[in-house]
Amino acid sequence: MEKIIIEGGTPLYGEIEINGMKNAALPIILASILTEDKCVIEHLPAISDVSLALEILRSMGAGVKMLNRTTVEIDTTHIRGGNSPYDLVSKMRGSTYLIGAELGRFGAARVGWPGGCDFGVRPIDQHIKGFEALGAEVDIENGYIVANAPDGLRGGQVYFDCVTVGATVNVMIAAVLAKGNTVIDNAAREPHIVDLANFLNTCGAKITGAGTSVIRISGVEKLHGCTYTIIPDMIEAGTYMAAVAATGGRVRITNVIPKHLEIISAKLEEMGATIEEDGDSITISRLGDLRRANIKTLPYPGFPTDMHPQMSAVLCCAKGTSIVSEGIWENRFRYVDELLKMGADITVDGRTATIQGVERLSGAPVRAVDLRAGAAMLIAGLAAEGRTEVSGIGSIERGYDDIVGKLTRLGANVKKVYCSDENELREAQ
Ligand code: EPZ
Repeated sequence: MEKIIIEGGTPLYGEIEINGMKNAALPIILASILTEDKCVIEHLPAISDVSLALEILRSMGAGVKMLNRTTVEIDTTHIRGGNSPYDLVSKMRGSTYLIGAELGRFGAARVGWPGGCDFGVRPIDQHIKGFEALGAEVDIENGYIVANAPDGLRGGQVYFDCVTVGATVNVMIAAVLAKGNTVIDNAAREPHIVDLANFLNTCGAKITGAGTSVIRISGVEKLHGCTYTIIPDMIEAGTYMAAVAATGGRVRITNVIPKHLEIISAKLEEMGATIEEDGDSITISRLGDLRRANIKTLPYPGFPTDMHPQMSAVLCCAKGTSIVSEGIWENRFRYVDELLKMGADITVDGRTATIQGVERLSGAPVRAVDLRAGAAMLIAGLAAEGRTEVSGIGSIERGYDDIVGKLTRLGANVKKVYCSDENELREAQ
């Protein structure tokens, strides 16, 4: 078993560079199924979800060649549909995009039920609504999502009942090769939606309005290959910003798009941090007291739900009472139990957590119950007094490239260790 061990209490100083965005990389990698030409995708984060997406493509018959640590060449000339391995697909939510990609390429799809972080129910009814609007018939058979468009997909109009990143991505992918025009209304507006649209347009698609709530797609005959660079990961950047707010110190974060970070920066400044923008870098410092704040997560450009656990970890030691309301997921509070082990004072009622700031957290053995909860455990451990042991770190490595290395470079006392049993901890690196 692997763990991350942190000796807390050290302010962070130095500079780190942000990697490509996980939630842009996954749709773009799987959307490459739409073209028979080669695609080269640059600035990929070296994380297990990306490796998994590439493994799924390989298992379907695609050629996948890493040109360097962060660049991949994908050749889907000989790819076959309907054969993605259930055990791989069921490991992440991003696998859902295989449905739109197979429908778009083959006019049919058969994909195992997707996995992903456990926030309660994660339905796909809006995905199905979108595919049906494009003329597909969709059934759930023995745990597989089976979609067919015997006459091929045709353009249609879909108005989502709720703002959904996944369904917006999936319908956009399916619609680019459909006959005719598609309008997606009440679409998600996240930066990774725009990045996917830019990738598809670079391949010859005709998409307008990405980033707004109305996306229009004119179907084209074919897509050609392209070389494309993924945008920086705003959630990775936000996570390191939250870590500096929690520990104090001053860190320059390079390769960011400040516009994507605006709402995170505004909230951290409200909590006592200072943030200076400089082109594609920002410098965050927190030298004075940490102040309380209220957070309500909403679809972009609202406060991102994927920053919720990290911000709660920071607010644990902010003077006063903070309220964190989760506006997207049924239950994203599984991380709270772990913070209570460290001496946090948090009560949860439905989708709202009330956090009473305490003087210091104390290090403890905690678990990364999901990807962003794991990041929250690291932040809490960095700020806590004493030693924190984080288990279940596979969750963290799904979405953070070299997080231990980056925190070490910022002066944190952190290391990844293997432990064959509870007593023996052997340093991994
Ligand atoms: C994406 O998940 C992200 N995952 C999540 O990030 C993120 O939390 C979420 O978007 C919201 O921003 C990836 O991009 C791989 P949704 P997704 O469809 O697409 C409801 C991380 O930490 N809904 O936008 O699954 C749903 O229940 C991960 O990187 C339906 O009701 O999220 C939720 O309440 C965790 N029916 C809301 O919409 C549907 O058919 C938003 O879900 C689909 C969604």
